[in-house]
Amino acid sequence: MTTARTAGMSLPQAAYTDPDVYDADLERVFATGWLFAGHTCELDEPGRWIAVDIGRDRVLVVRGDDGALHAHHDVCAHRGSRLTTDDRGCSRAFVCPYHQWVYGLDGRLRSARLMGDGFPSASYRLAPVAVRELAGLVFVCLAGTPPDFDGFAAAVGPPLEPHGLAGARIAVRDRYRVRANWKTIVENNRECYHCRGSHPEFTLSNFDAGTHGEVRANPRFEQAVAAARERWRRRGLPCEEVSFPGGAWYRVSRMPLREGYLTETLDGGPVAPLMGTLTDPDTGSLRMTSLPNLWAHADCDYATTTRLTPVDAGTTDVEVCYLVRADAGDVDTDALTAVWRATSAQDWALCENNWAGIASRGYRPGPLSPMVEGSVEAFLCWYAATFDRV
Ligand code: FES
Ligand code: FE
Repeated sequence: MTTARTAGMSLPQAAYTDPDVYDADLERVFATGWLFAGHTCELDEPGRWIAVDIGRDRVLVVRGDDGALHAHHDVCAHRGSRLTTDDRGCSRAFVCPYHQWVYGLDGRLRSARLMGDGFPSASYRLAPVAVRELAGLVFVCLAGTPPDFDGFAAAVGPPLEPHGLAGARIAVRDRYRVRANWKTIVENNRECYHCRGSHPEFTLSNFDAGTHGEVRANPRFEQAVAAARERWRRRGLPCEEVSFPGGAWYRVSRMPLREGYLTETLDGGPVAPLMGTLTDPDTGSLRMTSLPNLWAHADCDYATTTRLTPVDAGTTDVEVCYLVRADAGDVDTDALTAVWRATSAQDWALCENNWAGIASRGYRPGPLSPMVEGSVEAFLCWYAATFDRV
């Protein structure tokens, strides 16, 4: 099993196609870091829960009677049955379907029938999983000792809070199954080298190449960034850019949209009321990446989250959620989703085509552009360091 890479180059074929590397990715990458699990707004009252599949693990995240979030392995403490089959619900307790052991929302075993007098119920519970909430997003970590979350919270919380995701609702949830390795999909997300050629809807509102700090094809980009950040700072809207600090797993950046566009819709006009505590639609588009499984855009009127769930070396499930204010009323979902449904479909086709080539006999690692693929390099450095840490 070799994933050793040369700096500035894409990964060796095995990193994208070998089932052993895929298994190692689950152990070394997905089981060690913070993973995006879902949204605070779907866990807004005691008993509401979501289930998150991570390889062969499944985690239940539930709002407890105490108002706090709890996360548990979905594994019965009797003989190991799954407790749930749905991916979300609202329950007063979790009842194992096999022999009906009953667990409280906090994971404690409440009752176990026919176990005899003196059975020590208090000695059994659902195995806990670390969970954190940040500005309306929920993260879990399978590791016994999770990595530091505070740096991530300090970077992402202030710019994301004003968008009010905790008080939003999921207006649309789209699911896709993509025939590509999860890293191929992250790489695609980390560059806009491909945008001009493939994303006519996205490039209506967005400058078309690279991420901030890289060379842009459009010379007006840097001027637009400087002018927008000056306006945002005067209004007190956080716009500090943080990009994989010290090789960390996260990035956040508030990006200006093209002139005449207030949001990422086809005509640039908002499709819903301003989110959260925003008072001016001139917010640009807040971009957030949390490796290995989330990227999000928060605009003035809506936000999207894209969550990756690896299925096998060549298959990844993707969930895209569109959030608007909870009290937004009827929203034109065609207008809401027009840019991202088009862009997502285009990206999945690019990724499947990319992975098919990678999986073939003719593939060799190729060179990344130092001008517009710097964020792919940052991802691959983070991946290699994370993979090799164990
Ligand atoms: Fe759950 Fe038996 S496995 S009650
Ligand atoms: Fe794309």
